[in-house]
Amino acid sequence: MSSPFPYRTRRTIKPAQMDAGRDIPHDLLVEILEDAHWAPTHGLTQPWRLHVFTGEGRVRLADALQSLYAATTPAAEIQPEKMAKLREGPLQAPICIAVAGLTDSGGKISRLDELCATACAVQNLLLSAHQRGIGSFWSTPPVTCHEAFARWLGLDQRHTPMGLVYLGYAKAGVVPSSTRVPLDQRVTFCSA
Ligand SMILES: Cc1cc2nc3c(=O)[nH]c(=O)nc-3n(C[C@H](O)[C@H](O)[C@H](O)COP(=O)(O)O)c2cc1C
Repeated sequence: MSSPFPYRTRRTIKPAQMDAGRDIPHDLLVEILEDAHWAPTHGLTQPWRLHVFTGEGRVRLADALQSLYAATTPAAEIQPEKMAKLREGPLQAPICIAVAGLTDSGGKISRLDELCATACAVQNLLLSAHQRGIGSFWSTPPVTCHEAFARWLGLDQRHTPMGLVYLGYAKAGVVPSSTRVPLDQRVTFCSA
């Protein structure tokens, strides 16, 4: 049986597979963000904080990612190819969204719930983009989950940075594939 909503056909499209010259119309981007915004949250906290980088903003982001990687990685562990990728991603994709969650708001909602809610918003975003013919990639290299990145975004210590989501139309001819283990390896039916 197939699914009526394209949950199963969404595939990761990496920045190198995106058409950097084909912009996503702003109105469409706002619709996708609005879909993300309707994710469920415990206590209606809506903990996600999304910073959307487009145009020259992506260059500023790429510069920051490289500087922060250099500043937060012991010199002997810095890998030139990782350094290069931190620049390539934001420049290859037309839109790059830094994802963070307000995970300690001082109320009764747990950090776990706020992280889960933020991930729900991201999944809404990925599926909404896919339904509109736009590819996406949730990427979590360590520097994008480091507190120094949150500070750079202007977020205080109550926030947890959770990586980047790239959005862009796939280049012609890109046919990504993926697999999943059989359902019974992850799901247990308990009927008695
Ligand atoms: C929270 C999260 C973080 C991810 N981080 C990375 C990452 O840092 N690098 C990467 O190559 N893929 C990352 N991915 C994407 C997965 O590699 C991808 O979803 C998986 O291979 C399944 O492929 P599909 O998305 O096409 O179904 C991440 C996915 C999730 C949900």
